[in-house]
Amino acid sequence: MDPTTRRRRDDPPAQRVRLRALAPDDVALRAALVQLEPAPHQLGASASARQTLPAADADPRRAPFAVLLDAEPIGFGVLDRGDLLAQVVDEPERAVLLRGFYLTASAQGRGHGRAAATQVPALAADLWGPVAAGGPALVVLTVGTSNAAAQRAYAAAGFRGTGVQQRVEGQEPQHVLVAAVPQPPRATTRLSASGRPCAASALRQGRESARST
Ligand SMILES: CC(C)(COP(=O)(O)OP(=O)(O)OC[C@H]1O[C@@H](n2cnc3c(N)ncnc32)[C@H](O)[C@@H]1OP(=O)(O)O)[C@@H](O)C(=O)NCCC(=O)NCCS
Repeated sequence: MDPTTRRRRDDPPAQRVRLRALAPDDVALRAALVQLEPAPHQLGASASARQTLPAADADPRRAPFAVLLDAEPIGFGVLDRGDLLAQVVDEPERAVLLRGFYLTASAQGRGHGRAAATQVPALAADLWGPVAAGGPALVVLTVGTSNAAAQRAYAAAGFRGTGVQQRVEGQEPQHVLVAAVPQPPRATTRLSASGRPCAASALRQGRESARST
């Protein structure tokens, strides 16, 4: 199996869903992905690949990926180690941001989003390697406070709330969620003086304007 392709084997329905990091020469897959659209009312939660794939291709710190159901493309997302991370975490070099993640409208509501989100931390490990080699310790994302489907999918996939809410003018408040990136067996989590994992304690508590009230 391609090292950037991940599949869960413990849950029969989830076995059909996998993530595939996009290579420049994935011409047919790319053409299919830009046809995928969330429902029109969901475009505030995630833009479609028609916009986000070209933006990712233009930035070497972003890694676009496909969500496949068997061989069929049903969704898209981007892992981003760029400047936006600094608005979400205190140690951006130890994190990667999941953005632009969505399933095409007809594929939603069948457990595929949950299955795909579960595989994102492993994809990040495949793409950037362990923390010891400069890879990320955390996948971080923001999700709208009213986006119940996404919150439930991320929770089922192992993402946890940080207690931080981000407020950006013109958007609904966003919860900041994180999930640990799997590390090789011998790697250990460094603990801070408080005994909490450093990466978790590094999460920005929010600028005044970004705090939950
Ligand atoms: C978010 C998204 C990827 C989830 O994928 P999905 O395949 O629809 O979700 P799943 O079928 O895996 O369901 C996940 C959970 O959400 C629940 N759910 C699904 N649709 C829901 C809805 N409309 N309202 C409330 N809960 C819903 C499911 O019951 C399930 O909960 P459970 O795990 O407690 O049983 C998908 O809905 C999507 O692409 N949405 C539009 C874009 C978006 O919001 N992206 C995320 C931006 S942060």
